Amino acid sequence: MSDKAKKLRLGILISGRGSNLIAIANNIRAGTLPGVEIAIVISNTASACGLAVTRELGLPGEVFVSKGRPRAEHDADVAACLRRHNVDLVVLAGYMRLLSPEFIHAFPNRIVNIHPSLLPAFPGIDAQHQAFDYGVKVTGCTVHFVDEHLDHGPIILQRAIPVLDTDDADSLSARILKEEHKAYSEAIARIASGDYEFQGRRYVRRKA
Ligand code: GRF
Repeated sequence: MSDKAKKLRLGILISGRGSNLIAIANNIRAGTLPGVEIAIVISNTASACGLAVTRELGLPGEVFVSKGRPRAEHDADVAACLRRHNVDLVVLAGYMRLLSPEFIHAFPNRIVNIHPSLLPAFPGIDAQHQAFDYGVKVTGCTVHFVDEHLDHGPIILQRAIPVLDTDDADSLSARILKEEHKAYSEAIARIASGDYEFQGRRYVRRKA
């Protein structure tokens, strides 16, 4: 991923509204996420609002309905589509489907996810509500590589958000989402730069 002449081709997987997809696409267009292009957007539901957005943005999109299909079989279709589009990095953006081990092993350290809490706190669904109900004073979002365990892989970056006394779970979620829209592009830029490396679980800037 360090070949500066070649753009990093993203395959973005969605299930819903697609606001992170929009933020990434806008940053690419604005030139603030250089060296990156969206090769394909894939949804696992035909009704995802993010599909309409994909069309409006003029991006290629495909649907592979997952409901009722064995996970490995559905994932094999998605993986084949990603390969057809020469995808370098799989970007989960509100993809509400667990990935099979086969899929994860097919793209080692090449799948990223954004999670709306400071992992390892509050993995799983409704992380913003979990954090709010727990009463933490700081939460945030985490961009991480995906491994076989839920919300667990090496962290690329995190952004902290204070929880205000005046917050409810919705106002807190809205502030986290706003930060997500910046954080995801920054994390992708780190990967595209080729300037970062793994030291065990740590993903850190290479020494000059
Ligand atoms: C975001 O909150 C993200 O952290 C979580 O799913 C949500 C997706 O939102 N993984 P959107 O579809 O990108 O608007």
